[in-house]
Amino acid sequence: MKWFELFSLTLLLQFVCGEQMKFDIYADGDGDDGTAHDLATQYSQMSNNSLLWGPYRSALYFGIRPRIPRSLLSGLMWFSMDDYQNIGKLRHFYEQHDKMSKANWVSYDPRIGGRQIIDDDECHVKITIDFVKSEDGLSWGVKVKSEPHKGYENVKISFVWYSGLEGEEKEIVDGEEVVSRTGYFKLENPKNILGYDGNVKFAGVSKDLGIFELEINDGPKSNVHPVGKSNIDAELDPTKAHHYSLTVPDDSVWRARDIFMTMLQESIQQLVEKFGAIESIPPENLFILRDLQRFEGNLHFLQKIYQGPCEFDVIYTNALTPSTEKITFDNIESKINHAINEFDTKFDAKFHLNKPFTSKKYKTFSKEVLSGLLGGLSYFYGDHLVDRDTVYDDDSFENVVLDGKPEGPFELFTLVPSRPFFPRGFLWDEGFHLLPLLNYDSDLVLDIVKSWFNLIDEDGWIAREQILGSESRSRVPAEFVVQSPQIVNPPTLTLVLTYLLDSVTEKFGDVNEPINLDEEILSKESLGNFVLKNPEVLTNYTKQVYPKLKSHLDMFRRTQQGYVEEFDRGDNNEAYRWRGRTLTHCLASGLDDYPRVLPADVAELNVDLISWIGIMTRSIRMMAEILENEEDIKKYEQLEKDIVENIENLHWSPEDKTYCDLSVNEDDENVFVCFKGYISLFPFLTKLIPYKDTTKLEHIIDLISDPEELWSSFGIRSLSKSDEMYKTGEDYWRSPIWIPINYLILESIQDYYAQSKSYMSPELQEKFTKTYHDLRINIVENVFQQWEKTGFVWEQYNDETGDAQRAKNFLGWSSLVLLMMTMPENI
Ligand SMILES: *[C@@H]1O[C@H](CO)[C@@H](O)[C@H](O)[C@H]1NC(C)=O
Ligand SMILES: *[C@@H]1O[C@H](CO)[C@@H](O)[C@H](O)[C@H]1NC(C)=O
Repeated sequence: MKWFELFSLTLLLQFVCGEQMKFDIYADGDGDDGTAHDLATQYSQMSNNSLLWGPYRSALYFGIRPRIPRSLLSGLMWFSMDDYQNIGKLRHFYEQHDKMSKANWVSYDPRIGGRQIIDDDECHVKITIDFVKSEDGLSWGVKVKSEPHKGYENVKISFVWYSGLEGEEKEIVDGEEVVSRTGYFKLENPKNILGYDGNVKFAGVSKDLGIFELEINDGPKSNVHPVGKSNIDAELDPTKAHHYSLTVPDDSVWRARDIFMTMLQESIQQLVEKFGAIESIPPENLFILRDLQRFEGNLHFLQKIYQGPCEFDVIYTNALTPSTEKITFDNIESKINHAINEFDTKFDAKFHLNKPFTSKKYKTFSKEVLSGLLGGLSYFYGDHLVDRDTVYDDDSFENVVLDGKPEGPFELFTLVPSRPFFPRGFLWDEGFHLLPLLNYDSDLVLDIVKSWFNLIDEDGWIAREQILGSESRSRVPAEFVVQSPQIVNPPTLTLVLTYLLDSVTEKFGDVNEPINLDEEILSKESLGNFVLKNPEVLTNYTKQVYPKLKSHLDMFRRTQQGYVEEFDRGDNNEAYRWRGRTLTHCLASGLDDYPRVLPADVAELNVDLISWIGIMTRSIRMMAEILENEEDIKKYEQLEKDIVENIENLHWSPEDKTYCDLSVNEDDENVFVCFKGYISLFPFLTKLIPYKDTTKLEHIIDLISDPEELWSSFGIRSLSKSDEMYKTGEDYWRSPIWIPINYLILESIQDYYAQSKSYMSPELQEKFTKTYHDLRINIVENVFQQWEKTGFVWEQYNDETGDAQRAKNFLGWSSLVLLMMTMPENI
């Protein structure tokens, strides 16, 4: 029996009408009550709608879904039909090893839409994928265009679009689990196993989406279809579009590629049995997925075959989108052009590039950097695996094997470090991801921050890596899947909230004063700026999340406490040690293989960790000030003072003239453990060195600017050239240049120069201004040149050659080059 026959019409009508009303409220923008609260709610609905749909399956070259847990998931796949091998390279997940000379959004904003360009060197085509949304945000359209590379003008290419509707309800009936579907999604065209000419239409209904249609055309008349061989099976006609459908359970639509390949193999096997050797059937016939099962389920594939340049469109229309706003095959082109113009205008208004990066080529580059960052915006839903039982033995520095139990499901709206390599949420990266967006779309930033803070558990802990659902798990090596609450990660997100509060405070003075909202805020143009214009929103949220953030800080201090009195380190207890390190790695710190105390010892104290806890304390103190909580202000002021004091007392090595980790020798006497590099800079990067302490500032700037230590012509290297561990082992954080730390260095030089200038000698001032000026140009220029050369922005850069290294399309925190370009040329 087919599942949709089980549906009773009345039931269907009931929930459709019910949902229709809910959506009517969504669509209604002109409430006339006018109170701040109502306007805020209306704004929130409008803003939510504008972020409802997106290419939020960013692990794919192109995959669309809404920010709704069980919903409609779509994706695009393609392969060349010129030979029998290319099917093995069927494109779906964005993979690091695929040979592409480009694969990135060049123009994209989640509220507007945009353009992705994929230059596929194995299929020999350049694919342009445009994505636009209707004004109300409820409907969207996609244009896929393919241009053959030179010399491959007649390339045969097959595109496969799929859409699958999730949404199961499980009930126990007479002791047995019965699964039913909460919506349906089916082909509207009369079924034809020989294939389809012209448009193919699907229609569906679901609890969260209401009634919708999805239609795919065959593109303009200029498209050419290969004709293939005529005397074989009529179901294998490449001039037609081919449909295939089946039923898959929730959390399986993402396996579309595997499903397609399995079905295709079955078809090929049958054909070979019937017609003999594979070579007797041309690829453009052989690799057509025949409708073998003659069945319809919740997952649909539509396959198209073209030769030479081609294009086609996919349009999703929600029944609630007014007919005047609908995207159609006729207007999609002009809507795309409009969206791209809109993006350009918004970019120009928000980012002012400074010398020497004002010419056109840098603008093209920086637009792509921003688009690539935003193209990583993703929505995840599912459970993750946590081990709350295994206790890390304090004395053993072995790898601990964790045994996780599922927790959740949770949802997360986040950016990702790298679509091909790390397509999921990473806690400490996320704080950096949001910095370029603070002024660009502060509302989006706040949405993302909220989504993450929702994940703080009762103990104040958030998993370092968010691996939600089986799709995400499939991309992570088994040993990294399970998370432990004893492992923390740099709390960069707290900083982001403080940055937001900072900019609001700067603008409004008293952030507790409610301001009058006007109706203007409810225009589409003002989307993204609500928070910055309305401090009350931020204050209200801060109030709400404040207890959670306090427990987050408490958790850090509780779980990462280091030994103090045991080793005669005074009576100030603010001293910390990362838990979970091994002899070679400290994943919690984020600086995985950066050298640490050897032999490892429980007496270890880490200077980067105390700096992070210090800056977090400062953030909480600032929130307490905004919330006018006198008791907490006092408490956190004292704590911050203690931390600053211990950074100086425990971590500054007068002999090495730098900040170091601390440990003990065989006689349990305290010894500094100094590996000069990023870790030595942390009190500077977190601005916990007192402004008047120009002696230390001088040592820091000397370390940064010395070519025998950290300075290279391409940025600041992670570990000093003079260090015995330089370029040893995995060499991940033992020499390469990382963009986020370089950004913090620039920003801290700028800040200390502004604050400490009057205490500095002219020579020291000169060191600051010169280092700043040269460093900014070195980094940006190299990242730009590598992008020109390779087509991508990368995870890290070689300190001797400037060459791009490791994961590609790392946009991601490497997008901070964009902010560097907007920083002043000189301080
Ligand atoms: C902020 O909270 C106050 C008190 O709960 C409420 O009256 C006000 O409407 C809220 N403001 C916004 C913009 O949500
Ligand atoms: C907008 O979305 C957020 C996050 O999903 C949700 O918490 C909020 O209630 C939504 N706002 C409205 C007005 O529906």
